[in-house]
Amino acid sequence: MPDLSTTYLGLNLKNPLVASASPLSKKIERARALEEAGISAIVMYSLFEEQITHESLEFDHYLARGSDAFPEASSHLPDAGLYDVSPKNYLNQVAGLKKALHIPVIGSLNGVSKGGWTNYACQIQDAGADALELNMYYLAANPDISSSDIENMQVELVAEVKSAIRIPLAVKISPFVTSVANFARRLVEAGANGLVLFNRFYQPDLDLEALEVVHTLDLSTSADLRLPLRWISILYGKVNTDLALTSGIHTSLDVLKAMMAGAKVAMTASELLTNDPVQRVQEILKQMQAWMEEHEYESVRQMQGSMSQKSVKDPAAFERANYMKVLNSFRELP
Ligand SMILES: Cc1cc2nc3c(=O)[nH]c(=O)nc-3n(C[C@H](O)[C@H](O)[C@H](O)COP(=O)(O)O)c2cc1C
Repeated sequence: MPDLSTTYLGLNLKNPLVASASPLSKKIERARALEEAGISAIVMYSLFEEQITHESLEFDHYLARGSDAFPEASSHLPDAGLYDVSPKNYLNQVAGLKKALHIPVIGSLNGVSKGGWTNYACQIQDAGADALELNMYYLAANPDISSSDIENMQVELVAEVKSAIRIPLAVKISPFVTSVANFARRLVEAGANGLVLFNRFYQPDLDLEALEVVHTLDLSTSADLRLPLRWISILYGKVNTDLALTSGIHTSLDVLKAMMAGAKVAMTASELLTNDPVQRVQEILKQMQAWMEEHEYESVRQMQGSMSQKSVKDPAAFERANYMKVLNSFRELP
């Protein structure tokens, strides 16, 4: 039997298949079923900065002016839905999952600015989380703010969160950064024990009849794997941190590719949200094992990074050469 075990953020995991931050962790029963099926760790859905500051604004407002109205600053928040959760309920869910599960539970904070809300990192730790994932989802839409301003802000945020906790910290990053490798190194220097590549940005569409912007959540396919796969293979061995792949993990082959590129874990959400999650986890792990046996791999560790670009001296030149090769491979119709 090949050994599927891996480590991530100092945690010993029985295999590299991790449930990515999503509603998969909303119900304790479902999380328990995923654990029984074989998932090795679970990242919780995020607690958002806006939810925390909203609550404290409401509290301040209540203290100052009574409970007659809500502060306007919170009006952009969705009223209800899956993620309508108070910080207190979030912490209860961390504790509930920890109590019900044996596998590691990774809390998730989602925010961009420095400030009081980051003390929830410590509270998530105290509620029992084994590690924390920080998601800095941000669309750089202001022409007055430069890329280095944004990166400096994010690096400082990582340092602030890291200094508040004892548990390991992973940072989920965006691919829309000019120098991913440099930014990755700066985040690691600021204290990130792991990097999660990549955050999936939802893309709004336009409804031409209703003349409205349509906010749809398109789930991924295996084709979305290519972007994080490339960057994990470039970063492997160049930044001293654990790499996690998220976006496009749907099959056992996707997980195997993530390992070969250099990931410690492969995180999956879309696949488990659209199929019977228990069945899919079991199938993916079984098929991974069968593939490894057939190809005579003894362990996942032996595979990790074996197809990375670690020994490529100049990945940028290598990628340009590949780009030319790919363009040249196109054959026009006769
Ligand atoms: C319904 C849904 C909810 C999600 N919620 C969160 C979240 O709360 N925090 C977060 O960091 N990522 C969240 N994600 C992103 C996933 O964790 C994951 O990174 C992304 O979906 C790409 O992985 P996939 O291709 O396996 O779906 C969510 C994704 C989906 C589909």
